[in-house]
Amino acid sequence: MRAIVTAEPGGPEVLTVADLPDPVPGPGEVLITVAAAGLNRADLLQRQGFYPPPPGASDIIGMECSGTIAALGDGVSGWAVGDEVCALLAGGGYAEKVAVPAGQVMRAPAGVPLVQAAALPEVACTVWSNIVMTAGLRPGDTLLVHGGAGGIGSFAIQLGKALGATVLTTAGTADKREFCRALGADEVIDYHDEDFVEIARERGGADVILDNMGAKYLSRNVDALADGGRLTIIGLQGGAKAELDINALMRKRASVIGTTLRSRPTDGPRGKSAICAEVVEHVWPLVEAGKVRPIIDGVFPLEQAAAAHERMTSGDHTGKLLLKASRVDA
Ligand SMILES: NC(=O)c1ccc[n+]([C@@H]2O[C@H](COP(=O)([O-])OP(=O)(O)OC[C@H]3O[C@@H](n4cnc5c(N)ncnc54)[C@H](OP(=O)(O)O)[C@@H]3O)[C@@H](O)[C@H]2O)c1
Repeated sequence: MRAIVTAEPGGPEVLTVADLPDPVPGPGEVLITVAAAGLNRADLLQRQGFYPPPPGASDIIGMECSGTIAALGDGVSGWAVGDEVCALLAGGGYAEKVAVPAGQVMRAPAGVPLVQAAALPEVACTVWSNIVMTAGLRPGDTLLVHGGAGGIGSFAIQLGKALGATVLTTAGTADKREFCRALGADEVIDYHDEDFVEIARERGGADVILDNMGAKYLSRNVDALADGGRLTIIGLQGGAKAELDINALMRKRASVIGTTLRSRPTDGPRGKSAICAEVVEHVWPLVEAGKVRPIIDGVFPLEQAAAAHERMTSGDHTGKLLLKASRVDA
């Protein structure tokens, strides 16, 4: 197979094409012929050498893909060669073939072209597991989504609305704010010039906050929470270390939670398989009804992974970036 490799850590130019042996699916795994792989912000860190794959995972970058099942490992049931799927990967997505535990494979939602389905696994699993499974979002709640125009954010706005929440979001430019409004956000906040704390408080505070900034926003996020609110931190774009006013948290009976999807085990009640199963049960019907859709900024040929990384680094994108395997037409 052809795959994108990095001879050494560095800028986008270190991403080059190589011919490698096809992966062999182990017991409990399936082999997928990749239609497309999704880019994630963590891929930029992995390329720079700051985010190594979990033990045992492929060194090849790529945490999600869509494609067709090409082979089944021992003991796999419920899947057949030829099934159209998308999958959450611990690594290996920037390639023509990838092996993945069967529990991390989801059927491709009906009505979504197979290439576009590569935009869904990371955002659907991250957003669902955080705002619903972890933070318990309910209809009528106020959800604050930071970075609403990004891959995660654009999905979180749509899912929050589909679940009956009032959605507030932050974005950096007028175009991106317009984009967030078009996705259904009730209030879009300019993170350069406006105070999201004040705006959240005017609405009684946020019941749930999905945060990508970490340290930089910690104290303001706690200030923006409603009584009993839940702050789920999934990104560290604003650093990893900050002071927390525990008294403020206690007065509100609020919670601060941090999660990463990649480090979760495959199995167990909060493992990746359990999350994938919930996503297929609860999120795919919303996708199939057109209430939540993949938002795709651009599709690059696999060989142009460096250009796709440059686009994500620029921050000019809205929604997801994909790498399409060159033999795929759609
Ligand atoms: N923990 C997990 O399991 C997990 C899984 C997936 C992703 N993530 C994290 O989720 C975050 C988003 O990932 P992605 O793939 O969606 O990346 P992305 O598409 O590049 O989105 C990055 C977002 O950050 C926003 N941003 C930048 N500066 C900001 C600020 N000062 N205030 C608010 N927002 C700001 C950008 O907003 P503008 O474009 O408007 O500037 C953009 O929407 C990343 O931190 C990533 O590591 C975590």
